[in-house]
Amino acid sequence: MSKPFIVVSDGMDSGVFSDLRNTDGLEVHPEKKVSQEELKTLLPKVEGLIIRSATSPDKAFLDAAPNLKYIIRAGEGTDNIDKAYCQEKGIKVSNTPGANNNSAAEHALALMMTTLRHTANADKSMKNNEWNKAAFTGNELWNKTVGIIGFGRIGQLLCKRLQGFEPQVLFFDPGVSESPFPWAKKVDSVEEIFKTADVISLHTPLIDATRGMVNYDLMSKMKPSAILVNAARGKIVNEDDLYKILSEKKIKGAGFDVFAEEPLGESKLRELENIVLTPHLGGSTEEAQFRVGEMAAHQMKEFFLNNKLLNEVGA
Ligand code: MLT
Repeated sequence: MSKPFIVVSDGMDSGVFSDLRNTDGLEVHPEKKVSQEELKTLLPKVEGLIIRSATSPDKAFLDAAPNLKYIIRAGEGTDNIDKAYCQEKGIKVSNTPGANNNSAAEHALALMMTTLRHTANADKSMKNNEWNKAAFTGNELWNKTVGIIGFGRIGQLLCKRLQGFEPQVLFFDPGVSESPFPWAKKVDSVEEIFKTADVISLHTPLIDATRGMVNYDLMSKMKPSAILVNAARGKIVNEDDLYKILSEKKIKGAGFDVFAEEPLGESKLRELENIVLTPHLGGSTEEAQFRVGEMAAHQMKEFFLNNKLLNEVGA
């Protein structure tokens, strides 16, 4: 009997990948990362697929994969998968909930600190043989009001990791009825956070209600001294409006890890001094990649070898 053919398209921890490759009963493609061109050639045969954010199974992709039965998003967000079409075609979808959340929360914290203390610009200037203390006077995080929009696993972890900075934490999340932490206060609207917080961090999934939610009107409610951090999903923020508000210097700065289109192309955001940009590094730590890989590999084995579907994500 032929073995289910598995492809890992966007990279995986090497040790976890070789364990998966050595699993009896599965035929795993020998490369742990394949180009999108190569992936196209594998689609007619693939039965199980493990992806991160670089692969986006849309209708055309799924139609080209007639034998595909199971997609695992090694990570949290599944917005890069056409889940409704997967459901129509009987293709199951899972993610690896929680496995990279600490890294994502820590990256949001890193973006906050870098934006507040101008560390990235100061580093660039030092490498340019300068010593320009005056240009990089920053602000403290200690004792500030931090607003967290989206208080799921990552938002809550960020709230815990922030504790040492003794902030006042406000959060908005219609799905969380009361605050799980005495130092965090639930508020009733996103506007309240935009009006009052010194640091705003986005942690919602990309859904209809959050797509384009952060626009010029909302950002213009921010204090001129406030900063905005996005390590969630690019499309939550209107990027033209973000450019406008930052170039008009209506807010102090921003730290962004995610963008409407990834990889980020020739964006005007790249020209601004008051934004720190990183290439979707939220889940990119060795620790997180080990955990997501291990969980994804386990789920793949359970699905094909034990007929068990773990951490299914619905349409
Ligand atoms: C996720 O959804 O898991 C994060 O954005 C991190 C990632 O894609 O690597």
